[in-house]
Amino acid sequence: MNAKLLKGMNEHLKLEFKASHEYLAMSIWLAENDLPGFASWMRQQSSDELLHARKFVDHLVERDQKVVLPAVAQPPMTWESAEALCSHVLSNEQAVTASINELYALAEAAKDRPAVILLQWFVNEQMEEEAAARAILGRIRLGGKTGVGMLMIDQELAKGTVPGMPAADAADAAN
Ligand code: FEO
Repeated sequence: MNAKLLKGMNEHLKLEFKASHEYLAMSIWLAENDLPGFASWMRQQSSDELLHARKFVDHLVERDQKVVLPAVAQPPMTWESAEALCSHVLSNEQAVTASINELYALAEAAKDRPAVILLQWFVNEQMEEEAAARAILGRIRLGGKTGVGMLMIDQELAKGTVPGMPAADAADAAN
């Protein structure tokens, strides 16, 4: 494998593990703050991020490439509000998307077809994850100024019926 692409994939692992760790911490804070629907969505996102990290690990191991697991910092355990938390999720996902796009460009330049195929999956996944975060943030901005509004959005998340939330995420949140 091209050395720059290998280095880039190993560096990208940190973003996926960091997101998993942060989203788990977020789900704990959301549960503590009586938002079980939000908490269940974030817990599922945390699991998804671990799967993402493993997809890269498996790809590198299958191709006999050196994997370097990153150290992961302690995540924040409190948030100013659910809106601040969701806003952080969206910017996190945008940063992951930017990293995936860089890796995609490296894979294309190296004509590395297996890596391009792997990264194509991530391109689609990132589009869905950004859309879900944007949809939920939009609901909070629209109706989350009151406790009643937040309770309604939390119930929507518990049922997986947030408009604009991709079907796969909606099904995950409902489980
Ligand atoms: Fe694996 Fe949400 O990026």
